[in-house]
Amino acid sequence: MSEPAVVREYAELASGYDARWSSYIYASVQETLARLPRKTGDRILDIGCGTGALLAALAAESDDLQLQGIDPVPEMLAVARRRLPEEVILGGGWADNLQLPDACVDTVVSSSVFHYIRDPVRALAEMHRVLVPGGNLVITDWCRDFATTRMTDWYLSMFNTAHFRTYGLAELEALVKDAAFTSVDGQRYKAGWWGLMTVTAAKIS
Ligand SMILES: C[S@@+](CC[C@H](N)C(=O)[O-])C[C@H]1O[C@@H](n2cnc3c(N)ncnc32)[C@H](O)[C@@H]1O
Repeated sequence: MSEPAVVREYAELASGYDARWSSYIYASVQETLARLPRKTGDRILDIGCGTGALLAALAAESDDLQLQGIDPVPEMLAVARRRLPEEVILGGGWADNLQLPDACVDTVVSSSVFHYIRDPVRALAEMHRVLVPGGNLVITDWCRDFATTRMTDWYLSMFNTAHFRTYGLAELEALVKDAAFTSVDGQRYKAGWWGLMTVTAAKIS
């Protein structure tokens, strides 16, 4: 089977990714962290961790968090490995097929990844499976309620085979609710030119 387009795309982008998208990464990570509950000892899994910007911010904040990231692109993980403390666990993998045991993390976070996921229902089921009862889910992604996102989505759909699809806030909240999460809450906001949203939820305890 040929390599998925998203793997080819991020393998090429990896070395320049942080510099090229620095202001976007900084803004989206800060918005995500502002909505991410955490306490000493928490096990936090970052799905589609890319070059590890969010994990690096969490590692800098506290060495009492148990941090783990997965991403399907080895070149992105290599950049993450260089910037992160060795205690942070990194591995290859896809959101819709997590190679992790049931109920093994307190929080699942994913930033700027959801629009790539081919099977979002299965991915959310996987996120639910790996969370402990009462664990938290935090998803940040492009929000198609903004005209700028709809334009970007249209353009990428025509010219970028790695791209899949964007969601509106109500759509993403409905998907999260349908995956049996509770306390589903979402906000949309702008980060510079980008229209983003973050949905938070919890696994029923
Ligand atoms: C825009 S980057 C975001 C990286 C990082 N989360 C950040 O905020 O900088 C998207 C990342 O999602 C990863 N990705 C794409 N499809 C994925 C999937 N189905 N499951 C997990 N990760 C995926 C890509 O390899 C890439 O590293």
